[in-house]
Amino acid sequence: MTAINIDYNGLIPNNVELEKDARVQKALESWHPGYIAWWKEMGPDGFQDALVYLRTAVSVDNQGWAKFDYVRMPDYRWGILLANQEENRTIPFGEHFGKPAWQEVPGEYRAMLRRLIVIQGDTEPASVEQQRYLGKTAPSLYDLRNVFQVNVEEGRHLWAMVYLLQKYFGRDGREEAEELLRRRSGSQDAPRMLGAFNEATPDWLSFFMFTFFTDRDGKMQLESLAQSGFDPLSRTCRFMLTEEAHHMFVGETGVRRVIQRTCEAMKAAGIEDANDIAAVRALGVIDLPTLQKKLHLHYSLSLDLFGSEVSTNAANAFNSGIKGRFRETNIEDDHRLTSSTYPVLKFVDGAIKLVDEPALTALNMRLRDDYIADCARGIERWNQIFAQTGVQYRLELPHVAFHRHIGEFRDVHATPTGILIDAATFQREKDKWLPSPQDGEFIASLMKPEREPGKFANWISPPARGIDNKPGDFEYVKIAA
Ligand SMILES: [Fe+2]
Ligand SMILES: [Fe+2]
Repeated sequence: MTAINIDYNGLIPNNVELEKDARVQKALESWHPGYIAWWKEMGPDGFQDALVYLRTAVSVDNQGWAKFDYVRMPDYRWGILLANQEENRTIPFGEHFGKPAWQEVPGEYRAMLRRLIVIQGDTEPASVEQQRYLGKTAPSLYDLRNVFQVNVEEGRHLWAMVYLLQKYFGRDGREEAEELLRRRSGSQDAPRMLGAFNEATPDWLSFFMFTFFTDRDGKMQLESLAQSGFDPLSRTCRFMLTEEAHHMFVGETGVRRVIQRTCEAMKAAGIEDANDIAAVRALGVIDLPTLQKKLHLHYSLSLDLFGSEVSTNAANAFNSGIKGRFRETNIEDDHRLTSSTYPVLKFVDGAIKLVDEPALTALNMRLRDDYIADCARGIERWNQIFAQTGVQYRLELPHVAFHRHIGEFRDVHATPTGILIDAATFQREKDKWLPSPQDGEFIASLMKPEREPGKFANWISPPARGIDNKPGDFEYVKIAA
């Protein structure tokens, strides 16, 4: 392992010896003002002068990699941090399997690499834009701090991708870096590249579902890029995954705390029937069927991010050693996949069937399967709360054919259990399965800010423990007067 300490002296903290690379340093320094302007325009609305108890990476070692302190968000030290270089690393899959990992961009794969980096990079500022108004309705200072932590780290992930573009892709890399600051989530003229990143995040339940489901897609994408034969991309993604874990923690524990609070309120009020929505809502907590609908929505939008089940782009990215599988190096096979198959769920002759496809073209499906398994484990952890509190309810992942806009099922309609139905039936029934305008209004009615240290809005439980082991009444955000 070659470890380089993080240099915090210059404008851009880094562990890539930026000071020895005048061209890239200059490119990044000239990109910096545009980034700060973007942050002020599109980052958290209204809290730019608040002191936020944030973690900042100070090392890329697994132990003690971050420090916590009060920081004004525009002063956050967004840095360029790559995981340490593994000596003699080889390409772990594809037709170049076993050859030394590339330290420079292989010319023949330049366009493909650039595209993957740009797509990943585009998601990072998009989520900051989607979450920009949440601060106004945060259910506690603890939660307020968490959304800001996620936001500054997504900003850092943008830096991570921009560094790769500027260092390895010359002029078109610089142009792409500018475009990443120009597109806007939800914009008509210049939307973000992927569908789920143009959806609104209107309330805190959406935010928690987004960080559980959509950041988890991010994790899967980063895991497969962390396998890349292009070593700088691999090292970049490996460190991003360290930060990403917190985002999913925010999502999983956020939903958990909502469930906990609802179950406790139901028990206290003696409500047995979770489907008695009016009675549960009267308690000022989120009823479980509405939570299930939000889950349906965010899960189905996130499944779309995996692309078409059968894809020659995915095959090419693997074959060329650019994008591997989830935990590639732990899989026991030939890592080339030229003669194996993988079962793909397809829409054939009016029915949903599993069909064997060449494993190479089925890689999106495979990654999606790994993702679904990961989601399912999280759902089971949520379901334990019902058992613990004695409430009769279960959350379920919907069928993959439900509410899809990309891939095999984009042109069909299905119920959450995977029964195919026609468009008219779907229209008629969809408010039972997806959040309706009335559900949205009800949740919005609960979104009142709670800013007293140690206090939480009525619809959510306090966390089991504080960030950085802080006590329950710790002032995570000092809001400027
Ligand atoms: Fe990210
Ligand atoms: Fe994230």
